[in-house]
Amino acid sequence: MRITLEQACELLNHGDVVAVPTETVYGLAASLTKAEAIAQVFSLKGRPSNNPLIIHIADAEQLLPFVKQVPDHFYELAEAFWPGPMTLVVAIIEEAIPEAVRAGLQTAAFRMPAHPLARELIRRTGPLVMPSANLSGKPSATSPEHVEADFGGDFPVLDGGQCHRGVESTILFFDGGRWKVIRLGALEPEAFVSILGYFPEVDRTVASGDKQPLCPGQLHRHYAPKAKLHFDFPIAGAVVVGFEDRTYPVGCRVLSLGSSADPVVAAQRLYAILRQLDEENIVEAWVDVNIPDEGLWVTLKERLYRAGGM
Ligand code: TXA
Ligand code: MG
Repeated sequence: MRITLEQACELLNHGDVVAVPTETVYGLAASLTKAEAIAQVFSLKGRPSNNPLIIHIADAEQLLPFVKQVPDHFYELAEAFWPGPMTLVVAIIEEAIPEAVRAGLQTAAFRMPAHPLARELIRRTGPLVMPSANLSGKPSATSPEHVEADFGGDFPVLDGGQCHRGVESTILFFDGGRWKVIRLGALEPEAFVSILGYFPEVDRTVASGDKQPLCPGQLHRHYAPKAKLHFDFPIAGAVVVGFEDRTYPVGCRVLSLGSSADPVVAAQRLYAILRQLDEENIVEAWVDVNIPDEGLWVTLKERLYRAGGM
């Protein structure tokens, strides 16, 4: 059910959960001050309680009540990339943020989204927690239709059209004196070099023994359609998640990520295509991961492999 900005504002202030557009993906929003709505976000998504939520703000001032101390380059990063698809994890004043939001951690993640509807809404409601508006484990939602497919046609959605980035924000975490990328996203690691003076290391830790990833979300299966995904060269007649300027074996049906020279369009289409596999009950598909190991392509490759459970 599509709702207006005013209705979204009223519902959130009343303690309800609504879907909100951002420039990356749709978010499932609850007010940071409404404990029951926050609990409902976890239960609607089927999200494990050890996976913390990002707090979305509209202005830098909305951050001040929560933050204990900010690491080097925090303000420079915020100035350069907010509003936009960057999330910063910082040490917080624990009493100021509900335990459920931060999954008991002494840090919290913050982002100032760039979508005008999201910003106007957050200006009116105050900080909102928003995980991606999809069932846990499934591909994120980049259109109102995707949200309705997961949560039903009666679910309240603030319609902001298609998300123009199409993949989630890049999450940065300050560790051992340096910022690290703990989730690849819409901003490529290269983007931060001019501010930081170094290339932020990408944390690729997978849980093993006592080593845990810095980003709890990386523990869980993600972005996955029901179809079995193959990453080798497609067989004749296969369904291929690939590119319109490439040639695949005879009889292949290509679900096109666009041109192999354009990662921006590929990102915009990614989740719609993964969802299409489910909509059409496709049981197996071949994914063309012959893409560069740089820039936004690195995010796309990571999402594609994770969609295949790898
Ligand atoms: O683009 C986005 O970031 C979207 C839109 C809606 O803003 N949101 C999003 O939220 O992707 P979600 O919940 O799907 O992913 C948030 C990620 C999770 O992997 C979570 O573990 C991580 O952020 N996270 C949250 N708080 C954290 C913290 N204190 N330390 C480390 N990772 C944290
Ligand atoms: Mg998510």
